[in-house]
Amino acid sequence: MAPTVKPLTVTPLSERFGAELSGVDISCPLDEATKAEIRAAQDRWGVTVWRDTGLDDASHVAFSRLFGHVELAPRHAGNPPRFSQPELFDATNIDAAGKIIDNPNRRLINAGNRLWHIDSSYMEVRSAQALLLCHEAPPVHAPTFFADTRSAYDDLPQAMKDRIEGLTARHCYFYSRMKAGYPTTEEELDAMPHAHQPVVLDHKASGRRSLYLGNHARDIVGMSREEGRALIDELNAWTAQDRYVIEVNYSAGDMSIWDNLCTMHRAGEFDDTTYRRDMRRTTIREAGVEAADDHFTTLFAASKRAAEASGGR
Ligand SMILES: [Fe+2]
Repeated sequence: MAPTVKPLTVTPLSERFGAELSGVDISCPLDEATKAEIRAAQDRWGVTVWRDTGLDDASHVAFSRLFGHVELAPRHAGNPPRFSQPELFDATNIDAAGKIIDNPNRRLINAGNRLWHIDSSYMEVRSAQALLLCHEAPPVHAPTFFADTRSAYDDLPQAMKDRIEGLTARHCYFYSRMKAGYPTTEEELDAMPHAHQPVVLDHKASGRRSLYLGNHARDIVGMSREEGRALIDELNAWTAQDRYVIEVNYSAGDMSIWDNLCTMHRAGEFDDTTYRRDMRRTTIREAGVEAADDHFTTLFAASKRAAEASGGR
């Protein structure tokens, strides 16, 4: 098939953050110049949105590769994958039989995604871009909200920038789940895997800096639990201000792409006991990082609740 050469159109969604991209058929192979334009737009805007992509599972994964190494989604013993491609993370509220999930703990796990978070911040191997393709949207308002963690950092008072310079946070997947109501205790969390992450991250793709927290962030190294959480909560609330937030709505075929290294996000509320939502996600590893191919499975296997975490983000 001949490469596609068409102008890329960039339509900003706000002054500093988010853009809708169009003019290129991304279900077809792309030439290197177009790929470079798409990467540059992603680095510039942090979130990009494509409408009516025509992508299926295979072409979703194929397109994702322009951003780098596509991670394998976690697999769980006795829980066969729903999708044809092992790189697709399950962001649906439906089970393998196509029914809406009614397991209350699994629903609480999904509810954790309605808190502001950064995908994979609980992993030492960070994720960069995430490409979320809508296969079926509920017939109600069910957006994704994205926050601009670079502008939020830029706008911090200098005293706060000085205070957080060089700080490290400990991130734990089940901490956000506990905050969303999942039944677990601080003591149980202590036995779960944690990742150490800088509070201020250098976003190498843009040369800017970003706040790297969200609700997987459990503690600040070197601070008491109370002091650390107060700081995390303050910075998360700062970043979640309306002036840093955009909202993306979906119809089947639409795709949002966000860079976890310069954004945080949360799923919008909707009645997930009534309406189906079929969203599938690929995840790109941070550039230049070496890791085992299947480290998501390894991490979730370390949790006794791995099966319930099969919607792991
Ligand atoms: Fe997420």
